[in-house]
Amino acid sequence: MRLAVLGATGAVGRTMLRVLEERRFPADALVPLASPRSRGAKLVWRGREWRVEAPEPGVFRGCDVALFSAGGERSREWAPRAADEGAVVVDNSSAWRLDPGVPLVVPEVNAARIRERPRNIVANPNCAAIQLVVALEAIRRAAGLRRVLATTFQSVSGAGQKGIAALEAELAGAQAQGSPFAAAIAGNVIPCIGPRRESGWNEEEQKIRNESRKILGLPGLAVAATCVRVPVRIGHSIAATVETEQPLPLEAARAALRAMPGLELVEGAHDPLPRDVAGLDVIRVGRLRADPDLPNVLHFWVVADNLRKGAATNAVQIAEQILRE
Ligand SMILES: NC(=O)c1ccc[n+]([C@@H]2O[C@H](COP(=O)([O-])OP(=O)(O)OC[C@H]3O[C@@H](n4cnc5c(N)ncnc54)[C@H](OP(=O)(O)O)[C@@H]3O)[C@@H](O)[C@H]2O)c1
Repeated sequence: MRLAVLGATGAVGRTMLRVLEERRFPADALVPLASPRSRGAKLVWRGREWRVEAPEPGVFRGCDVALFSAGGERSREWAPRAADEGAVVVDNSSAWRLDPGVPLVVPEVNAARIRERPRNIVANPNCAAIQLVVALEAIRRAAGLRRVLATTFQSVSGAGQKGIAALEAELAGAQAQGSPFAAAIAGNVIPCIGPRRESGWNEEEQKIRNESRKILGLPGLAVAATCVRVPVRIGHSIAATVETEQPLPLEAARAALRAMPGLELVEGAHDPLPRDVAGLDVIRVGRLRADPDLPNVLHFWVVADNLRKGAATNAVQIAEQILRE
C-alpha cells in the first residue's frame, strides 16, 4: 500500500508520520511531499530514509490514500488532482470542510459519513472543533443540545512550526522573526485567531460554529465561540457551556461523558491540563458543573493535543476506516 503525505515536514505532517508508525498503518511505501524549499530533504520513517519531493502532476498515481496538511491553497489545488489520480484524500486544511460533497469527520461521532465522498475527499475538522464535538456528542446522546458557548485557549502549535518557533524565540528573550501572531505571545494572550470578519467574528470562531454544526448534523444549533491564543506549546483547552434540550442531572452527564469513546472524564483533585495530554490521543473533560441559576445548563472544560487528536490522529483514524471498507 502506497501512502502520500503532503506537508510531511510541517508540525502536523511530522506528527502524522509518528502516529502512522505507532498505529502500524499498513503502508509499505511513503511519498513525502512539501514545498519546493524542502525538495531533497530526508525524513526517517519506519527506520528508512525517504526523500521529500514537491507535488507535481502524476505524483499521487499508485497511492491509495493521501494525507494533506499543507494549508488550504495547496489543498484546493492538489486534492482534486490526487483524487483524479486514484488516491482518497484526507485533508487537514479548511479548504473542503464545508463543501456539501465532502464529509467532515470525527470518527467517534460520525464515522459512517466517510463512505459518502463523491469527490473522494474526506475533510478533517478544525483542531478545536474536534475536541469540542466529541464532548458535545456525549451530551447530545443523553439529553439533546440547544445551545453551545465555547471559549478556547489554543496553543501556539496550532499555528504550525512558525507558532512554536515564535514562542521559543520570545521565551529565550529574542524577538520572533516571522511570527504568525498579531502580538508577542510569551507572557500574553491574544483574543484573535485567524482574520477578523466585518461582523466582528474571527475566522477560527466561525470554523468552530460551522464545523460543529456539520459534524453533529445539527445545522440550526446555536454555537458561539471566542478563540484565544495562549503561550502553551501543545494542547488546546476549551471552557464550554451547553444548554441541553432535556434536563440532564450531573450524575447522568458524568455517565454520558464516561461512555463516550475517545473521551476521559477527570474528576477529583487533578483538573485536566493541556500539558498532561501533549503526546496523547485522549480528549479529557473535567470541571463539570451544573449552572447555579439556569436550568438545563452545564459547564465543563475540555483539553486535547491539537497536533494529535486535533489533526494527525483524527486523519489517520479516517484513513484506517477507508482501508477497512
Ligand atoms: N497545527 C495544528 O494544530 C493544526 C490542526 C488542524 C489542522 N491544521 C492544518 O494543517 C495544515 C498544516 O498545518 P501545520 O500546523 O503543520 O503547518 P506548518 O508547520 O507550517 O507546515 C506546513 C507544511 O506545508 C508545506 N507547504 C508549504 N507550502 C507548500 C507548497 N507550496 N507546496 C507543498 N507543500 C507546502 C510545508 O513545507 P515546507 O516545510 O517545505 O515549508 C510544511 O510541510 C494547515 O492547513 C492547518 O490549518 C493544523
